[in-house]
Amino acid sequence: MKFTLDTTPAPELGTACLVIGIFEHAALHGSAELIDQASNGALQQLIDSGDINTDWKGTTMLHGLEGVVAKRILVMGCGETEKFSEVRYDRVCGSAGVFLRDHATTSAHICLNEVEAVKPGKVMSGTGQEAGLDQAHWRLRQAAVNVGRANYSYTATKAPKDDDNKPLVSASFNADAEMELALAEARGIVKGYLRSMELGNLPPNICNPAFLAEQARAIANDYENVSVEILDKDEMAQLKMSALLAVGQGSVNEPKLIVLKYQGSNENTRPIVLVGKGITFDTGGISLKPGPNMEQMKFDMGGAASVIGAFEACADIQLPINLICIVAAAENMPDGNAYRPGDVLTSMSGKTIEILNTDAEGRLVLCDALTYSQRFNPAALIDVATLTGACVVALGHHASAIMSKHDDLAKQLIDAGQAAIDRGWRLPLWDDYQPQLKSTFADMRNVGGMAAGSITAGCFLSRFTKGQRWAHIDCAGSTWIWGGDKGSTGRPVGLLSQFLIDQAS
Ligand code: BES
Ligand code: MN
Ligand code: ZN
Repeated sequence: MKFTLDTTPAPELGTACLVIGIFEHAALHGSAELIDQASNGALQQLIDSGDINTDWKGTTMLHGLEGVVAKRILVMGCGETEKFSEVRYDRVCGSAGVFLRDHATTSAHICLNEVEAVKPGKVMSGTGQEAGLDQAHWRLRQAAVNVGRANYSYTATKAPKDDDNKPLVSASFNADAEMELALAEARGIVKGYLRSMELGNLPPNICNPAFLAEQARAIANDYENVSVEILDKDEMAQLKMSALLAVGQGSVNEPKLIVLKYQGSNENTRPIVLVGKGITFDTGGISLKPGPNMEQMKFDMGGAASVIGAFEACADIQLPINLICIVAAAENMPDGNAYRPGDVLTSMSGKTIEILNTDAEGRLVLCDALTYSQRFNPAALIDVATLTGACVVALGHHASAIMSKHDDLAKQLIDAGQAAIDRGWRLPLWDDYQPQLKSTFADMRNVGGMAAGSITAGCFLSRFTKGQRWAHIDCAGSTWIWGGDKGSTGRPVGLLSQFLIDQAS
């Protein structure tokens, strides 16, 4: 979708649809006021007669308003001014995007960024302000990101139908050229989200480790300052990545270690390194998962999809940082050659791991990828993974879990999630949990028991990141909509992209 800026007064704009926001019981202002004037008070009359739903996220489509060039006006309800938080603002933009997509609108002019809550003296929590972002910049960017994200539909493996959604082709926003940077950020973030969603949604017979590697190659081809290296099974064996290889050894789809490098700064600048869990299908292996809902384990590469998406956002915006993205891609299958409970593996770090459950495979591919990543001397090392079902028990689908021993890094990630409205919440990584990983036959076991399953998984990873400024993000609840057919959310591309943008400034 094309994003542009246009300051032409809304009533004069030749677009298929104008999009404005209106509060409950509040005077019209900005473009809404101009439309009201141009239409001789028709807009206010419609509001007064109760024909416009001003509830938060309410939608009303107006047709052929006199004095207004655009044939359609989508009025988004914003609810009560006192309740209009950044989260509410963000959701209104997303709802507008979904509505446009579902109503065959191919071009729109969006004025939602004019909608500002009046909250004298109150610093809103979780917003641009705290992350040091300018509010006007933030509002414009989030409007574009949300409309862009909402405009996605999955089409890759089905025949087109007449009543398919007609995506928006172009959207203009009411802001002047000063806001071009906000739009450039939005373009990159949307690109990242769409990449992440598409990779998540593609079926596991298509999106396997080799496919992820091809996608990385394609991204490297798109940007001059991006390079890629794909390590195959033999190269990983030479590096002694036995934990990663064990997970993949039951599948005919061989594992890959994907290394994408972006140079946006001086070559001596330490890179930020993102590591993603790329299990393209997780059957559980010999400790086989139950049948119901197993198909959802195609999303077990959601961490990989989001680090690839955030990487692409960074390259598209051309942030002045160095960034490396590492994906540990493998398929966890039961087979005559599969690894088993009872096996003891020697990881690349030299530490040995007793396998108690082959379904705790994410931490095994990640531990070798994390050991490998340290050769890049990262300024910050962040892994992202659909690591534990326990994460969903703890936080549900609204937040990713953030774990780090570095308070400053944890705070930066939480703030980034707040600013992007792609939120994370911290869980502790105290050493008190470490004894749950004790093993009689190896340096550690790969499961920590029932209690605090997400934290013990984090503790496991912490053993491979000693001395690193490291954080772990468990996105098991946030990266796809569970149960239904809505598919991938692309998260946490927003959080990660915001973190990278913050690092650049
Ligand atoms: N990919 C799963 C985690 C998961 C499960 C994410 C359900 C989202 C929904 C992971 O590989 C896994 O199976 N974890 C086990 C760990 C256990 C065996 C210690 C889990 O969470 O049950
Ligand atoms: Mn598993
Ligand atoms: Zn898994």
